[in-house]
Amino acid sequence: MVFASLIVSLLLADFVHSDCECGYTVNSTLYTDLLETDFLHLANITSDTDWQPQNYTVTPELARGPYGKNASLSNVVANPLESQYDWAGNGTNGGDAGLQIIVRGGTPQDGLIPMGEVATTREDMLQGTFRAGMKVTATSGTCGALFWYFNDTQEIDMEFLSAEYNATSHPVNLVLQSTESEQAGFNAAGTGTFQVHQLPYDPSGAFHEYRFDWSNNAVTFYADGVLLDTMTQAIPTQPGHITLSHWSTGNPDWSAGPPATDAILTVEYMKAYFNSSDPARQKDWTDRCKDPTAVNATCAIPEVTEPPNGNVSAKTFFFSQQKNETVNQTVYGVVKKSEGVAMELSWKARTDTIMLLLFSTALVMWEL
Ligand SMILES: *[C@@H]1O[C@H](CO)[C@@H](O)[C@H](O)[C@H]1NC(C)=O
Ligand SMILES: *[C@@H]1O[C@H](CO)[C@@H](O)[C@H](O)[C@H]1NC(C)=O
Ligand SMILES: *[C@@H]1O[C@H](CO)[C@@H](O)[C@H](O)[C@H]1NC(C)=O
Ligand SMILES: *[C@@H]1O[C@H](CO)[C@@H](O)[C@H](O)[C@H]1NC(C)=O
Ligand SMILES: *[C@@H]1O[C@H](CO)[C@@H](O)[C@H](O)[C@H]1NC(C)=O
Ligand SMILES: *[C@@H]1O[C@H](CO)[C@@H](O)[C@H](O)[C@H]1NC(C)=O
Ligand SMILES: *[C@@H]1O[C@H](CO)[C@@H](O)[C@H](O)[C@H]1NC(C)=O
Ligand SMILES: *[C@@H]1O[C@H](CO)[C@@H](O)[C@H](O)[C@H]1NC(C)=O
Ligand SMILES: *[C@@H]1O[C@H](CO)[C@@H](O)[C@H](O)[C@H]1NC(C)=O
Ligand SMILES: *[C@@H]1O[C@H](CO)[C@@H](O)[C@H](O)[C@H]1NC(C)=O
Ligand SMILES: *[C@@H]1O[C@H](CO)[C@@H](O)[C@H](O)[C@H]1NC(C)=O
Ligand SMILES: *[C@@H]1O[C@H](CO)[C@@H](O)[C@H](O)[C@H]1NC(C)=O
Repeated sequence: MVFASLIVSLLLADFVHSDCECGYTVNSTLYTDLLETDFLHLANITSDTDWQPQNYTVTPELARGPYGKNASLSNVVANPLESQYDWAGNGTNGGDAGLQIIVRGGTPQDGLIPMGEVATTREDMLQGTFRAGMKVTATSGTCGALFWYFNDTQEIDMEFLSAEYNATSHPVNLVLQSTESEQAGFNAAGTGTFQVHQLPYDPSGAFHEYRFDWSNNAVTFYADGVLLDTMTQAIPTQPGHITLSHWSTGNPDWSAGPPATDAILTVEYMKAYFNSSDPARQKDWTDRCKDPTAVNATCAIPEVTEPPNGNVSAKTFFFSQQKNETVNQTVYGVVKKSEGVAMELSWKARTDTIMLLLFSTALVMWEL
């Protein structure tokens, strides 16, 4: 019996073609897909097809502020490190390296405050763990946001209001938008799914990891791996996308502002591990994953923990930067794109060779 199961497990182990082919885990929770972006080493956001820098305007009325919003590509700026071997320091444009998402200071043009935003191309994210390394602005009068979005009543938000900061207070606003918040004019304050938590540090002073995990029955929020809140109402049910946004409408009750000078939110990385609502991606997973219990079929997602015990290696770790840990995943990012193409080409190449063989065999037989 033991011998038989050993043989079975050896046979199954043989089916593991590449590490993590069944997905990525947080304890026993498995996610099949991933999207990882290393903004510290990304030279051009426009060339990263995982992300769409946003270009839109919102009127003051719809923005519910004295001012409207003008999101443009010029306010999303890649500022990579000089060296691919470094993991901290100033970017090539000066200042903190990473993706800069900017709210422009001074008098708004046309009643609109210039702002920046990027959203993921993928809109099939249905439950997952979503993590961003960010340093928010110290310039008063903006809202920096990491959020997942389906529609105005299915949304998971972590929002940082720079006007709220002083020497002793550094809150983060955690929100699940809901039909209740919609009924209150998109003011979640009176609902059960709006919570304000004090961070034990100044989030404009250094980079920290902000994270939310969304499962069937809860959304949990974290800062540097420390649990901030668990919400069990208004849990989203539909698939959506991730957005990183930095904006201001001058509304004294929320973003305040406009900021006196340019305000910069800097993002070091985004790491999202999630399940997909897309039948094509689900089929990819069933093709890839023969046995989730086989050795290395699933990989544990490293935890970032709070300094001074913080795990620097976890922060700089990307499955997509390992040789064998994202094989046959659909990723659009700069690095993986070429690998994906290479894989597709080699597969095509093999098919072509077979066709050529069949064709020449047929030709030979015809000649005979
Ligand atoms: C990736 O997918 C291709 C095409 O479906 C398949 O031939 C190949 O074996 C897969 N590679 C791995 C490592 O699973
Ligand atoms: C990829 O991972 C599989 C499964 O763990 C392993 O058998 C294989 O040797 C790895 N290949 C490379 C190139 O690392
Ligand atoms: C994972 O398990 C550890 C150890 O039991 C626990 O401390 C941690 O809260 C769990 N994490 C999640 C996201 O459930
Ligand atoms: C994600 O999808 C996989 C494959 O269908 C499933 O095994 C896993 O339980 C799902 N994870 C969650 C959190 O639902
Ligand atoms: C960034 O990438 C886009 C799209 O690939 C390209 O059109 C543009 O010229 C690039 N910009 C720079 C500064 O390299
Ligand atoms: C941004 O949107 C405006 C208004 O729709 C359009 O005129 C402009 O060409 C767009 N810019 C880019 C870079 O897509
Ligand atoms: C929005 O900002 C862009 C970039 O600064 C600018 O070109 C455009 O004219 C602005 N749009 C409006 C309606 O003010
Ligand atoms: C990094 O950038 C900041 C802000 O631009 C500047 O004050 C500082 O001197 C720079 N540090 C280095 C080592 O270049
Ligand atoms: C959001 O989507 C849900 C599910 O489809 C729907 O019930 C709800 O009315 C939508 N909310 C808005 C504001 O459209
Ligand atoms: C900081 O802000 C908090 C919350 O608004 C307030 O209670 C506190 O008095 C402020 N502290 C200082 C030093 O301004
Ligand atoms: C599992 O993955 C680790 C880390 O990539 C590797 O060192 C080890 O050889 C793998 N084990 C098997 C059985 O492939
Ligand atoms: C730090 O992360 C690495 C990479 O995932 C992991 O191997 C190691 O156990 C972690 N160390 C601590 C102290 O959490």
